[in-house]
Amino acid sequence: MGFPETRMRRLRSTPSLRRMLAAPAVPPARLIYPVFLIDGAKRREPIASLAGQARVSIDMLEQELLPAAEAGVGGVLFFGVPEDKDPGGTGACRDDGLVQQALRVTAKAYPDLVRFTDVCLCEYTDHGHCGILKGRELDNDLSIEALGRMAVSHAGAGAHVVAPSAMMDGQVRAIRGALDAAEFKNTLILSYSTKFASALYGPFREAANSAPAFGDRRGYQAPYDDVNQALRESLLDEEEGADMLMVKPAMFYLDIIQRLRERTLLPIAAYHVSGEYAMLHAAAEKGYGDLSGLIREAAVALRRAGADFILAYWAPEWRKHLG
Ligand code: PBG
Ligand code: ZN
Repeated sequence: MGFPETRMRRLRSTPSLRRMLAAPAVPPARLIYPVFLIDGAKRREPIASLAGQARVSIDMLEQELLPAAEAGVGGVLFFGVPEDKDPGGTGACRDDGLVQQALRVTAKAYPDLVRFTDVCLCEYTDHGHCGILKGRELDNDLSIEALGRMAVSHAGAGAHVVAPSAMMDGQVRAIRGALDAAEFKNTLILSYSTKFASALYGPFREAANSAPAFGDRRGYQAPYDDVNQALRESLLDEEEGADMLMVKPAMFYLDIIQRLRERTLLPIAAYHVSGEYAMLHAAAEKGYGDLSGLIREAAVALRRAGADFILAYWAPEWRKHLG
């Protein structure tokens, strides 16, 4: 039956009806807040390209996380950005490293936050690539061993979830093996399983000081024009033992989230990355859109596509955006 018997606008005709029929709002517990850690003391350096975000030294962390904890955010994801770097990224495994210290501070101050760590070498290598080089090529199999050691170090410092983002083949299996061998059988792995070689990571690379010194990441990150490779990446990580999968970036990849949703029963995370955050802010700043409206629409779209939880820089302000 069509018009005039059918009138879609009846369903939307009052605020009460719209409220009654609305999908449940995205709860803050489904949001994970990414945080950048730097050396030194009493440092809080705003990140120019990420409005409102800052890199903080460990002594400032408790204060920095307060809004997220008060907002009921589900968890935090730590990135260490140390000054000391070397070709092997050996700083990643130090027990007194930034991420390891941050895990201890957070466990004490906010035990209810789920503690995630980014497991990748690019913030620790002097060349800025995500693994260990042999000549100018990344050595996959050496790199996954190093990632395994890094994951064990994070687990030892209290990470609930280690999140490998290097896009090396076999990294999930190597990390699971290393964790189990070290008796960290309950540490979860959230694989950045389908991570695209994207132009949306610019502000992050400024924040994390992790742009590659030469070349780019297209030799390891997934090409955004090949759906089959994108799906295989995630499905292989499921077979390797990932507990949770991720699609990254988020807004340009709703189709990938949806297709993955149809093929896996694992939880799926969507990473609303730095460039997406920056785009929405820039648009709002220019007066081209309302920031809260833009962020709400993005969050609902990601849930609708099938994401179970969202990593986002706006996580602590979510309630404010909900209005
Ligand atoms: C590092 C890493 C990146 C991001 C998360 N982990 C950047 C990259 O691959 O260069 C991007 C996060 C963001 O842009 O918000 N492997
Ligand atoms: Zn990396």
